Amino acid sequence: MKSFIQALPKVELHLHIEGTLEPELMFELARRNKVSIPYQTIEDVHEAYQFHNLQSFLDIYYQGANVLITEQDFFDLTWAYLLRCQKDNVLHSEIFFDPQTHTDRGIEFDTVVNGIHRALTQGQDQLGISSQLILCFLRHLDEESAIKTLQQAALHKNKIVAVGLDSSEAGNPPQKFQKVFQQALDYGFLTVAHAGEEGPASNISDTLELLKTSRIDHGVRCSDDEILVAKLIKDRTPLTICPLSNIKLKVFENMEQHNLVELLRKGICVTINSDDPAYFGGYMTDNFLAIDHAHDVTRDEFGEFTFNAIEASFISTQEKDRLYAITRDFLDTYPN
Ligand code: ADE
Ligand code: ZN
Repeated sequence: MKSFIQALPKVELHLHIEGTLEPELMFELARRNKVSIPYQTIEDVHEAYQFHNLQSFLDIYYQGANVLITEQDFFDLTWAYLLRCQKDNVLHSEIFFDPQTHTDRGIEFDTVVNGIHRALTQGQDQLGISSQLILCFLRHLDEESAIKTLQQAALHKNKIVAVGLDSSEAGNPPQKFQKVFQQALDYGFLTVAHAGEEGPASNISDTLELLKTSRIDHGVRCSDDEILVAKLIKDRTPLTICPLSNIKLKVFENMEQHNLVELLRKGICVTINSDDPAYFGGYMTDNFLAIDHAHDVTRDEFGEFTFNAIEASFISTQEKDRLYAITRDFLDTYPN
């Protein structure tokens, strides 16, 4: 199964570009930009990456992002991720970025978006990997700040397909961002949002209703509400689930207890993603392998995760058909 999973065509829909900052690049950028970081060695970093919940991770994660200063830094970060995509047979990726993490420390919005976008264009040209960009508002900040960020995003409408919502879910429900999401929809952006990661199932229902999102990021807490589960099945609402993240942040005690296979078999449009791979110990293939290790999943079911991700993606019907055909051909021809 390992070589099958490695070779399986994949589509990633839940990936924070700041969460792909590997310790080696963090050290290099710290040196290049003369920014001090609280680690001397790679071992120090690994020791610090022991999290007990979402907030304990976010504190470390925002600190890591301080080394990102120039457009070239954002390019290098994104290019390194795309090279990992190539290794994992990721054909298409929809990538989150958190502009407020950078603009709040004096980095221009344009610096961030232009560096990332230049790497994505090169990824399409040189690696054949397609991508989309999704701007996430930080939910621990106020809506006013999100609105200012949206206005900057509107100037880069051609580079950004959707807006999302991430950071601390507890105490920052979807209601807080209803106005800015409506404005984003009016500008013509699609919407997604993290919900039901640590927060209750009601955050998922409220997100769908109030923020009119096309997908739910994480959403694993839907299991607490049978009516919600029935609605997700009926509407084919995609969940972008991140197995290794959920274990690292103690959303589930262990991978055996993770509910994503059960949700898939109930008929929910479940997808597998890596979230913040540099912090959680693995990219796409590692997440698939972790599920394979803990659950009895068939090849066809692994294929279903890719079909679901294609269905849930923000690409054209024509492009979806191309990816469906590649995946179907792979499943039909991969040796037993
Ligand atoms: N930002 C980066 N990763 C996140 C996660 N898993 N949940 C919320 N915000 C995040
Ligand atoms: Zn996330």
